[in-house]
Amino acid sequence: MRRVVSPGSFDPVTNGHLDIIARAARLYDEVVVAVLINISKQSLFTVDERVEMLKEVTADYPNVRVDKFHGLIVDFCRANDISAIVKGLRAVSDFDYELQMAQMNYSMAGVETLFMTTNPLYAFLSSSLVKEVVEYGGDVSGLVPAAVLQRLSERLR
Ligand code: PNS
Repeated sequence: MRRVVSPGSFDPVTNGHLDIIARAARLYDEVVVAVLINISKQSLFTVDERVEMLKEVTADYPNVRVDKFHGLIVDFCRANDISAIVKGLRAVSDFDYELQMAQMNYSMAGVETLFMTTNPLYAFLSSSLVKEVVEYGGDVSGLVPAAVLQRLSERLR
């Protein structure tokens, strides 16, 4: 089975993430969306809430599975028989750090990283900006799934 992982913080999942996940699901037998458990980083939603939202918004994709992990992504890959990581690239500014991580992951464990160009509709989108805009009363409908919009409003307003 050809399996790929889409790792991230997903605090919360946006339509940009979902676009990458859906496109990867057309190329691979299975996409594992893996939420990083990072106790040193402050988050708006708990890991379990993020997993729950991801499960809800990917429910229509039968070959997408949602999981969480701590530690190195390459260890998660090894444990789940995954040979590649898929990442969305929004702009050149994403590239430097992504390239570093991709090369480190390949050098540590031979895990490949595949970069997918972000849909231009979502090129400016990030979870952090979404949270900031909602916090100050802005409208992000169309940028996050409806279920996420609902949770953001409950949490931030
Ligand atoms: O959504 P994010 O926060 O940009 O995702 C970053 C993530 C989770 C993909 C990256 O930080 C990661 O893979 N972390 C796991 C720890 C790890 O493997 N670090 C070494 C990377 S070379």
